[in-house]
Amino acid sequence: MTGPLEFAVVVPVFNERENIPILVDHLEATLHGRSWEVIFVDDDSPDGTADAIRDLARDDPRVRVIQRIGRRGLATACLEGMCATAAPLVAVMDGDLQHDETLLGDMADALEADPGLDLVIGSRFAEGGSTGAWDRDRVAKSALATKLSRSVLKAELSDPMSGFFMIRTQIVRDLVPKLSGIGFKILLDIMTASPRRLRFRELPYIFETRVRGESKLDHVVALEFLIALYDGLFGRIVPVRFAMFAAVGGLGAAVHMAVVGLLYTATPMPFVPATIIATVVAMTFNFFLNNSLTYRDRRLRGARELIDGWVSFCVVCSVGAVANVGIAAFLHDVEQGSWAVSALAGILVAAVWNFALSSRFTWGR
Ligand code: GDD
Ligand code: MN
Repeated sequence: MTGPLEFAVVVPVFNERENIPILVDHLEATLHGRSWEVIFVDDDSPDGTADAIRDLARDDPRVRVIQRIGRRGLATACLEGMCATAAPLVAVMDGDLQHDETLLGDMADALEADPGLDLVIGSRFAEGGSTGAWDRDRVAKSALATKLSRSVLKAELSDPMSGFFMIRTQIVRDLVPKLSGIGFKILLDIMTASPRRLRFRELPYIFETRVRGESKLDHVVALEFLIALYDGLFGRIVPVRFAMFAAVGGLGAAVHMAVVGLLYTATPMPFVPATIIATVVAMTFNFFLNNSLTYRDRRLRGARELIDGWVSFCVVCSVGAVANVGIAAFLHDVEQGSWAVSALAGILVAAVWNFALSSRFTWGR
């Protein structure tokens, strides 16, 4: 290595085995003569990505790997990688060769030359950049998303969703406790969480088409984006996680109401057993939805984990369910309230309990 460590390149990877050696070759070629390291953050990819990295790392101390077990998530992977370097500058770059690594040297030069500059962003939409072979549909969606997040950010960023940038490491370290770690718009997260407006510069690049492996983001892109926007707008008032739990709870309430309504009005079943059945149905529905949305990053998988999780969710929520049934029954039977108002009141009380307990016990690892 030549001189003290200048910068780290953090590369989140999931099932990118084939791309690893190519990427390291590219880095070596373009960063010749500089002092750098690359930190791959792998979420225990089944294709053996971490082994492929270790194969290279044995002969090259500039190559490092963080292998996370039992967790998934692009944003947290980036954050943990960025916190794992001693270098004063840190870049985030995709591991699938879609980002142009030849920009890294220019990014570091810009930051080293101007101490007032906080970060340099690779932009597909700045003059000279492009999204390569994207179809019209994706270009249109991306343009809309860009416009929306610009109005939230109030920064003249041409590519707020860029996953390619270099920043002063200390800025990220200071911000980490404030970041939600949800979603994959890590740059948007950093920019919105910063207490002062960050000074940035943009460098154009052409977003290459992926050749090996496949994209992990396609079907969650819209959801992640909405989460990021929400977080930027209201995240400090009502945390994203709770907002999602509440939204899922709202859907669960609709399911609950439908089941109670159906059983109570269309069958001879009395109100209390109808409410009990509706509670179990809604609880199961909420468990699966929360598992795949609210707690995506700590998602329980496989029959064993799912059953254990469902049981613990039910046990945890039984406190809320008892309150739910008790309050609903009291209002309905004793106070002669309508079935709808009684059922709703029960749900509201239960929701608070459910969030507090389940985030701790069902997904709290
Ligand atoms: N560790 C880890 N965990 N890595 C992940 C995960 C995860 O859960 N999901 C994806 N990755 C890695 C991929 O292996 C790849 O190296 C990189 O993150 C980007 O993932 P892709 O699945 O290739 O994303 P994309 O090409 O659709 O999205 C790109 O464009 C977006 C804007 O349109 C990325 O650059 C995004 O960051 C960017 O916001
Ligand atoms: Mn990609």
